[in-house]
Amino acid sequence: MKAYRADLLDFVSTPAWGDTEASAAVRFRPEHWLLVDDEGRIAGVQTHEPPANIEREDWRGHLLLPGFIDTHVHSPQIGVMASYGTALLDWLNNYTFPAERAWADPEVAARGSAHFLDALLAHGTTAAAVFPTVHKTSAEALFAAANLRRMRVVTGKVLMDRHAPDGLRDDVAQAERDSIDLIQRWHGRGRASYAVTVRFAPTSTPGQLAMAGELCRADPSLFMQTHVAENRDEVRWVGELFPEARSYLDVYARAGLLHRRSILAHGIWLDDSDRAALRETGAQVAFCPSSNLFLGSGLFDWPAMIAAGGAVSMASDVGGGTSLSMQRTLADGYKVQAMGGHRLTAWTALHAATRGAAEALGLGHEIGTLEPGRLADFTVWRWSANAVDAERQRLARDLHERVFAWMTLADERHLLATWVAGAQRFARRPQAATAPARDDERRAA
Ligand code: GUN
Ligand code: ZN
Repeated sequence: MKAYRADLLDFVSTPAWGDTEASAAVRFRPEHWLLVDDEGRIAGVQTHEPPANIEREDWRGHLLLPGFIDTHVHSPQIGVMASYGTALLDWLNNYTFPAERAWADPEVAARGSAHFLDALLAHGTTAAAVFPTVHKTSAEALFAAANLRRMRVVTGKVLMDRHAPDGLRDDVAQAERDSIDLIQRWHGRGRASYAVTVRFAPTSTPGQLAMAGELCRADPSLFMQTHVAENRDEVRWVGELFPEARSYLDVYARAGLLHRRSILAHGIWLDDSDRAALRETGAQVAFCPSSNLFLGSGLFDWPAMIAAGGAVSMASDVGGGTSLSMQRTLADGYKVQAMGGHRLTAWTALHAATRGAAEALGLGHEIGTLEPGRLADFTVWRWSANAVDAERQRLARDLHERVFAWMTLADERHLLATWVAGAQRFARRPQAATAPARDDERRAA
């Protein structure tokens, strides 16, 4: 057993949209002890000091959260971030596809996967649904690297058998064999789940989509992940490629790809019938505000999803997104909602990046909260890391204001340490002191 003292924040239910009160959904426990057992599970939370024989770490004055869950991110795209000048379809052709081609090499995939997962941990993200590349080896490498770190991952070989350059296309038979092989090797092993990973409708033939639907039908414990209705040119193209479908989302519905373990990134250009279909099937939308702003894709309407009863989680979508930081993602989410005339509370945002995402993935029993029995995936953050956000913290009048200012101003530089299943996997190195000149020194000079 080990004990950690900090300001503990998590959620016990879903906060109401727009509610900035410290509602019953929010559980803030300042200066509490988090107990973690030797199996790496949360054993409990208490105010009183643990007995002397229990090893302890005192992080008093810092914020302790469940590890963030990034429900849509691309492992081979760290090097694609911040690529200038294009919208989705040109961005894929000019930057993304060329970068993904290199991952056919197992060594590139292994090195890249390790780098990617360590980067997630250094941003406070302990679980993710990830797109590698079309190459079987890229999924294999990611599963292996996650297993080594005991990280919760949902991933699978990307399916794409058309409208992609040489070296990035599979075919239905090979894709099916590779998927089944990876499912047998990795699905349910350690903390890994397999996701049938359709890149997006334009890069799969109807035959490949049908095969993907068959995989899902054969094993309802599989996840499915893809992109939907991200960009207007993309939506138009899907309309041309699949004239029989009522909408872009309907392409996936017809192929049997919408179910309670489906994660659809973006969902900007959906209509009410699409949103009803999401609710009925239990599929969720991964909201990717940083990517949506960077690629100029559009403004996701979160309240419309709530009105329809659909689930929403938060995602960086790196490399369309410009940071792996979930705080930056949430801050962008606030701005996107503001552009639509809505206000995203810190509670709804942080919930969607922790407990909400865990529940939408059907993983609430494992991750997302500080509830006893969950695996001890957690992070400790500085409330402030510089004079500017320290002053903002000092002026906050209530808990929501404090946490909202933190969410908006903080990033990975506020992260002190990350634990996965009770093991510390990231720790900030002490920084060289850069003492600012004091006013009295300046006067003396
Ligand atoms: N649609 C198809 N592929 C991609 C991708 O890699 N990133 C984003 N943002 N959208 C996509
Ligand atoms: Zn994406």
